[in-house]
Amino acid sequence: MPEGQTIIEQLEQIQQSALRALEMVQDEAALQEWRVAHLGRHSSVMQIFSHLSEVPKEERPRIGQRANQVKQALEAALEARAKQLKRLALERSLTSERLDVTLPGRQPVRGRLHPTTQTLRKIYSIFADMGFQIYRSRDVETDEYNFELLNIPAYHPARDMWDTFHTTRPGVILRTHTSPGQIHAMREFAPEPVRVILPGMCYRYEQISARSEIQFNQVEVLAVGRKITFSDMKGTLNDFARRMFGAQARTRLRPSYFPFTEPSAEMDVECFVCGGKGCQICKGSGWLEIMGCGMVHPIVLQNGGYDPRQYSGFAAGMGPERITLLLHRIEDIRYFWANDVRFLTQF
Ligand code: DAH
Repeated sequence: MPEGQTIIEQLEQIQQSALRALEMVQDEAALQEWRVAHLGRHSSVMQIFSHLSEVPKEERPRIGQRANQVKQALEAALEARAKQLKRLALERSLTSERLDVTLPGRQPVRGRLHPTTQTLRKIYSIFADMGFQIYRSRDVETDEYNFELLNIPAYHPARDMWDTFHTTRPGVILRTHTSPGQIHAMREFAPEPVRVILPGMCYRYEQISARSEIQFNQVEVLAVGRKITFSDMKGTLNDFARRMFGAQARTRLRPSYFPFTEPSAEMDVECFVCGGKGCQICKGSGWLEIMGCGMVHPIVLQNGGYDPRQYSGFAAGMGPERITLLLHRIEDIRYFWANDVRFLTQF
C-alpha cells in the first residue's frame, strides 16, 4: 500500500475506481470478471480485511466498519448493474427483433379448377338441363365391351382407330373410349328409355405429341327410346353447341363412319376464332370438329338389350380437352398433364 495514505483514504479510492470500472462493464462475462477483480479473494478490499490484524488495535473497529461498508456498496452496485444489463439486453432484442404486425400477410397460393374440369362441368350442366343423367362406368374394360359389343369384332379393320393398352390379363384392357359405357347403361336401363352422358378418362397407346395424349377425357352422350330420330340428335347437339360456344354458333354435320352408329356423322362448329373465314386454328376450313355422333347401330341396341325394331337411339362422343383447347386457343395438349402452375393459373 502506498505510503502516507491512510487506510480510510485507500478504501475511498478502492470504492471509486471499482465503481468507475463497473460503469464500463457491458455484458455478463465482463460482469463476472469485475466481480473477481473487485470482490474476489485477491481484490483490494479483501486484502484490507486480511491485513486488519496488522492495524493498531484502537483503529481496527473504524477501519473494519469502513471496509465492510465499501464491500457492501460494491455488492449493491454489482447487483444493480446486473439488473440494468439484463434490461438493456431485453430492450435491444425488442427493438432489433421487432415484428411489424401491421405488414400485409403473404398470400397463400390457392388452387383452382383445372381447365378441363371447368369444361366438363359446363358440359354436365348443359346436358343436365336437357334431362341427361351422368352415368359412370369403369376405366378398366374388357375387349368385349370396348370393341365386340360395339360392333367391332376382332380383326375388324376399324380397330386401327383405337391403339389399345392391354393388361397382363388376356382380354382386359384400358378403355380406349367411353362408348363401352353405352352397353353398361343400356343393360342397366333396358327396356326403359335411357338419357345419359358418360364422362371419363380414356387411354390410347399413341405417340404423345402437341395434338395427342395417351390419356384424355371423353364425354359420351346416349339417348335410347321408342321414337328417337336423327332430327332429335341434330336438335340436341345443336342446342349443346350453342350453349357451349355461344348463341350465334353455327354447326354442320358431316357424314362419317363409326362401327357402332349407322348413319354416322361428325359435328363441326363454325370457327369462333375467325368467324368462318379460315385461320390457323381451323386450318383454313372455317370449321372446327367437336364430336362424332350417329344413330345407335341395331346390333349395338340389341347387345344393350333393346329390340331394334321397336327402339332407336342416338349417341355422340366428344373430347373435353379438345374443346378446352379450342375455346382458349391452347396450342399444345401436353400442357393439360404437365402440372405447370403457370399454365393452370391462367384459367
Ligand atoms: N368413341 C368414338 C371415339 O372415341 C367417338 C364417338 C363417335 C362416340 C360416334 C359416339 C359416336 O358415341 O356416336 O372416337
